[in-house]
This record gives sequence, structure tokens and C-alpha cells, in this order.
Amino acid sequence: MEYLDTDSVRLSNDENSVIIIDQTKLPSETVYLSLNTAEEIFDAIKLLKVRGAPAIGICAGYAVYVLAKQMRANSKDELVSRVQKIAEYLGSSRPTAVNLNAALSRMTNTLCNAQGNVCELLEILKAEAVAIHEEDIAMCRRIAKYGLTLVKSGDGILTHCNAGALATSRYGTGLGALLLGKEKGYDFKVYVDETRPLLQGARLTAFELDRAGIDVTLVCDNMAGYLMSKGYINAVFVGCDRVAVNGDTANKIGTLSAAVLAKHFCVPFYVFCPSTTIDYSIPDGNAIPIEMRNGEEIRSMFCKRSIAPDVKCLNPAFDVTPAELITAIVTDRGICRPPYTASLSSLIC
Ligand code: MRU
Repeated sequence: MEYLDTDSVRLSNDENSVIIIDQTKLPSETVYLSLNTAEEIFDAIKLLKVRGAPAIGICAGYAVYVLAKQMRANSKDELVSRVQKIAEYLGSSRPTAVNLNAALSRMTNTLCNAQGNVCELLEILKAEAVAIHEEDIAMCRRIAKYGLTLVKSGDGILTHCNAGALATSRYGTGLGALLLGKEKGYDFKVYVDETRPLLQGARLTAFELDRAGIDVTLVCDNMAGYLMSKGYINAVFVGCDRVAVNGDTANKIGTLSAAVLAKHFCVPFYVFCPSTTIDYSIPDGNAIPIEMRNGEEIRSMFCKRSIAPDVKCLNPAFDVTPAELITAIVTDRGICRPPYTASLSSLIC
């Protein structure tokens, strides 16, 4: 599959820009963008040209390196203060996914703690950005292996949003087990929620799975109850943007509805995430900031003309699924089961 061999985010060969696949253009066009300025990177994140919690983190790491190079700073102090300002600016582009600010803090902390002249410090920043990227690839592979132990060939799986290679590196999180299973000859039937309003399921997940040769059926978000009531779904697989210490999990709006349905129909509900998506600083889901997006996205985005009258639209981009609805959280360090406060804490060693 094309996107398993390349990256949705990478550093350009001349190291002067961050290259992304413009995810708003998929699946009809594959357009690569070369981002050179802080404003271009901010907009790419805000407008979901690059999206998915881990991919945003990788983009942020490379962005700090590329922008730090352009600063032509004369001293470590100058470099640190300008990088901190850029990190604050980029960090305000989207609030929910923890990976964005975690990657920016990692880059600034590395810089603050490093010794050397400006050239050496830039090399250290580059190494850190590459490490964030490479660690994500390795984490996705481990998540996929753990995830595959939860299902068997022939299973029907429901997905929501997109947690594949585009949202991360290579395999993805929520889709990783399905792609790995395909490689090993498993025969899944995957039902893909279209994921209103921005259609990450229809545009991206259906595209990625179809390209991988997996049996995909696209459904509207409100069809999940029907599918479960008919016994088509053996498990729900979703990614996530932030996990609180107690296991409450923020993911794309509509995930909560799928989890409630899964509980009712006794379908296991699995959340997939790299350990970098666990926010040990917050006790529960109430502390997760939920991004509110422009209501116009509901009315007219991806439609040739407006599909609704000029009424108010409410557009929260994420919801929080309470821990009690989650069967297991599948991480690169193992599969966590309730009680999550204990199992998630045991991942830190
Ligand atoms: O608004 P998006 O498209 O960035 O939302 C993405 C999701 O909700 C994903 O499920 C999540 O980031 C996990 S990606 C591995």
C-alpha cells in the first residue's frame, strides 16, 4: 500500500521545510505541500491538512527544527527564547490532541537542556524531531501486534474517524492491527463510519483500507446501532487524541455514541494509542479541552452548496468516552484493562 512505504509528514531533503500530504484533498488528489513558515504550519494543522494526534506531533517536531534554522540566532539564549515563542504559537492551533503540545515541549526542553554552539544546538533539535518520528513508527508497529491478538479472521470491525498511516506513521494505531492482519492473511470485514462533519472515515479510512485490499463497507455514523443489532460487528476500533489517567478518552466527535451502542450490544470497544497520547497530568476526561470548530463545516464543507438553512451550527470536534465504556486501551507498551488508573500507571517505568 502506497502510504505504508512513505510518510504523511517528513522533513524535506534540503531540511528547509516540512512536507505533508494535504489530507483535505484526499482521496481525489494526492497533493504534497511544502511548509516553510510558522503561519503555513499553523494553518496546515488548524485546517486539518495534517491531522491525527501523532501526525500533528511529528509535524510539530520538524516544524521547530525548520523554523529554528531560519532564525539565524547568534546565541543559545536568543534561540531558546524564539523557539519558545514559536512553540507557544503552534501549540495554540489545536487544543485537544496531547501530542501537539507534548512534541513542542519535548523540543523546547531538549534545546534548553542541550549544550553547544547554535549549529550544534540545531543538530540536536533535528535529532530530536527525527526521534519523535521514528519512535512513532516503532510504537505503531507494537500497537498493531497487540491489537491483532484481540480479533480473529472473519471478524466485523467498526471504525470511527481515521487512525491509519495518514494520522501517524506507517501502520497507524486503530488501523494498524487490521493492516497487519491483512498481511498475515486475515479476512476482516471493516465497516467505516463516514465521520461527520469532516468525513475522515469516508475520505481517509475507506481510502487507506481499500488500497490495502481490505474488505471495506462505508456507512453513515447513525448506522452503527443497526449494524450491531444485526450482529455484524465483533469489535469497535478507534484511535484517540488524549487519554486521562483514569482512562477517559477524547476522540473524534461521535466516538462516544459508538461506545454507548457497543456497551448496549455487548460489543468490545477498543481504544488504540501510543503511550505519548496518555496525559498523566489530568485526572479525568473533564480536564480535556474540546476543540470547537466553525459551524460552517457542518453546513457546507465538502458540499457543492449549503445543505442547511442559515441556522446556528454547533461543531465540537471531539467527545470524551468515559473509561467504563472502554473494554481495553491498546498501547505500544501493552494492553491496558480496567481499572485504568492502575493499568495506565503501570506503563510508566
Ligand atoms: O480532527 P482529527 O481528524 O485530527 O481527529 C483525529 C482523531 O480523532 C483520531 O482518531 C486520533 O487523532 C487518533 S489518530 C491515530
